[in-house]
Amino acid sequence: MKILMVCLGNICRSPLAEGIMKTKVSESFFVDSAGTISMHEGEHPDKRAIKTASNHNIDISRQKSRPITKADFDTFDKIYCMDIDVYEDVISKVKNEEQRKKISLFLEASGDHKNAEVPDPYWGDMKDFEEVFQLLDRGCDAIISEILP
Ligand code: 4NP
Repeated sequence: MKILMVCLGNICRSPLAEGIMKTKVSESFFVDSAGTISMHEGEHPDKRAIKTASNHNIDISRQKSRPITKADFDTFDKIYCMDIDVYEDVISKVKNEEQRKKISLFLEASGDHKNAEVPDPYWGDMKDFEEVFQLLDRGCDAIISEILP
């Protein structure tokens, strides 16, 4: 199973989602993340995201931001988008129905009926990053129980 987490810049939410998911699944899973913009390409995650993950003993410091590519739609089985803008942007890039079916909103896929979107903590503070961490942590658990037989 190959899972791609997608946000806007690939420096805050999706790197956290990637890091969290990797701690929860076996080596037979491939988990990666990407952004819909290339503005931060090659950069490591935001320092606040790295610190938040490290507070939970997860190391995301070596990840590097990259934009989503056409090949990702063939490579990955599941593509989880952090918010509606990201979802719409990703959907607009698909070639066919098979690719479209791989894409979902992260929180919708995890059955979170309270929140539709993982809020962008980029303009916020450490408390916002921690809240995003908790949302992603619960979401990953729910997604795993959904996709694992
Ligand atoms: P992310 O957060 O999509 O969770 O990585 C953001 C990162 C960068 C920007 C916005 C959101 N930006 O405007 O540069």
